[in-house]
Amino acid sequence: MRMLKLFIPLMCSLLIAQTTFAQTNAKYIGADTCKTCHGSIYVHWKASGHANMLRKAEDARKAGVPKPDYVGWSDILYVVGFKWKTRYLNNEGYFITEKGRNQFNIETEKWADYHAGEVKKYTCGECHTTGYDETGSTGYPGIVGSWAFEGIQCEACHGPGSIHTKTRSPADIIVDRSSSLCGQCHIRGEDPTVIPAKGGFIRHHEQYQELLQSPHKNMNCVTCHDPHKRAGLSTYRKFDCSYCHAPEAEEFKETEMAEAGVTCTDCHMAYIVKTAVKRGPWEGDIKTHLFRINIDPNAPQFTPDGKYSKGWITLGFACLRCHADRSVEWAASRAPYVH
Ligand code: HEC
Ligand code: HEC
Ligand code: HEC
Ligand code: HEC
Ligand code: HEC
Ligand code: HEC
Ligand code: HEC
Ligand code: HEC
Repeated sequence: MRMLKLFIPLMCSLLIAQTTFAQTNAKYIGADTCKTCHGSIYVHWKASGHANMLRKAEDARKAGVPKPDYVGWSDILYVVGFKWKTRYLNNEGYFITEKGRNQFNIETEKWADYHAGEVKKYTCGECHTTGYDETGSTGYPGIVGSWAFEGIQCEACHGPGSIHTKTRSPADIIVDRSSSLCGQCHIRGEDPTVIPAKGGFIRHHEQYQELLQSPHKNMNCVTCHDPHKRAGLSTYRKFDCSYCHAPEAEEFKETEMAEAGVTCTDCHMAYIVKTAVKRGPWEGDIKTHLFRINIDPNAPQFTPDGKYSKGWITLGFACLRCHADRSVEWAASRAPYVH
């Protein structure tokens, strides 16, 4: 027993020492190098938001991204965003804000104002780039910090890969399956135990905070997601909801709603989160990771000051998005019999 107790920490410290050694000497070399040996992963990743989060103006232009009407493409350095909304940096690295109309909402194809008229630096690199160094400099006065590569590349999650590329050894690359890996970026603020809200919706990039208050708090993001694929493609890789919740899935299958095409996530991952567009009184544009529905018609979704969300989904968000002509009381009377 004694031996074992000593042995385990010793082994652990050796392992940690080895990883640290490899990591301190390793350098960031970029996804295009990983591609030579991990081609199929690369192809999925390249099409995902992670790869495209921060694009050089020329790449975004070629992809058909629109630009604010009062600047030319030659006035733009980077485009920020890919799936929901895009914002623009000028040639000094500041956000283009002069006349507003500077955020393009992709779903509605409408322009919105983002800090119109303000001088706004790009302080966002730690979550939008790979190998971010907050003390570094790109040489552009409007950009805080520096990075090795734009976007969330392989090495943002696997650590710098120059040594692994030579040795091809799994021992020289990190594979971290924890939610806290994703939680470095899919979080808002420093406190993982709260869910910041604003304007009647949960704010975006808080999936880690939501998950921690959900019944799935002990699951990893990669239990459900393939980290290399886009959201809609990445889920159900290993398990869909019915794999773990067979009784509820079986019951639901027989209902009128199931026949009409309503799915588990329509209710259990309601659109309580907003990044770009408010689609309706009960609908933002990002699915929540809270999962549990509170069927009390008087349960609040938010704290009285509106600054934080509770750790459940209320019936307004779960049901009235589709049943717009009904009330919360109606939903409460039907909710226990949905399954
Ligand atoms: C010259 C070929 C080559 C290149 C380039 C390469 N790898 Fe690998 N990689 C391998 C081989 C071989 C394995 C081991 C596969 C196995 O054991 O099944 C591997 C395994 C891995 C694993 C899994 C490790 C594990 O514990 O299972 C990861 C993650 C990985 N590579 C990431 C990367 C990243 C990131 C890059 C780019 C920085 C990269 N690789 C570049 C050949 C390469
Ligand atoms: C370095 C920061 C960072 C890390 C680490 C990170 N993400 Fe992301 N993630 C982002 C950003 C920024 C976006 C927005 C990019 C987009 O979708 O346009 C994003 C988008 C996504 C999307 C939507 C992408 C799409 O194309 O539909 C999923 C799903 C996702 N991340 C899952 C994960 C998972 C799972 C992990 C951990 C294995 C993870 N992320 C780790 C920053 C990060
Ligand atoms: C958002 C974080 C993230 C990014 C970006 C990412 N990976 Fe991974 N990768 C992971 C995680 C987490 C696992 C472990 C997944 C699991 O076991 O469920 C993994 C697993 C792997 C594996 C081993 C298992 C497998 O799926 O074959 C390889 C090889 C790999 N990644 C290579 C890459 C390469 C190459 C890139 C870039 C083109 C990349 N990864 C980008 C997080 C990431
Ligand atoms: C703590 C990490 C983090 C910081 C800091 C951060 N973001 Fe993000 N951002 C994310 C993640 C994760 C996503 C995607 C998930 C989501 O929105 O729920 C995202 C999404 C976005 C999107 C939409 C992406 C798309 O594909 O449409 C834009 C635009 C954006 N962020 C701009 C900014 C700007 C501007 C800043 C700095 C002022 C910033 N972000 C700071 C993590 C971060
Ligand atoms: C890998 C297995 C797994 C997958 C996949 C999974 N769940 Fe769960 N789920 C669990 C576990 C474990 C619990 C926790 C049960 C507990 O707390 O007793 C849970 C709890 C829940 C609860 C709360 C149950 C309660 O008693 O309040 C809901 C609702 C739920 N899951 C919905 C979903 C939905 C919707 C999906 C698909 C998006 C899903 N789950 C995918 C394992 C899973
Ligand atoms: C129309 C909305 C809706 C759909 C679709 C839906 N659910 Fe539910 N689900 C509910 C409501 C409401 C409750 C809460 C019932 C209660 O507390 O009495 C619930 C409860 C649950 C629970 C917790 C059960 C318990 O004992 O408390 C699980 C697990 C669950 N659902 C999984 C699923 C899965 C898996 C699917 C897809 C096959 C699904 N749900 C589809 C509305 C829905
Ligand atoms: C229980 C399974 C499950 C877990 C655990 C889980 N997700 Fe998801 N996630 C989903 C499903 C299902 C979707 C919806 C996919 C779709 O659009 O069809 C989704 C969507 C997303 C999206 C895109 C949201 C949108 O509306 O487009 C992001 C970003 C994301 N997840 C990140 C994460 C991160 C980060 C974690 C860990 C902190 C995580 N997820 C944990 C099941 C899960
Ligand atoms: C994604 C859209 C959607 C969501 C979310 C949704 N429903 Fe439905 N519901 C439908 C559709 C479609 C039907 C089929 C009949 C119809 O058109 O009304 C239906 C039918 C019903 C019916 C039977 C017909 C009736 O009107 O009496 C009840 C009861 C019901 N829903 C309750 C709920 C409850 C409770 C919730 C939330 C827990 C919910 N629904 C969430 C789309 C939805």
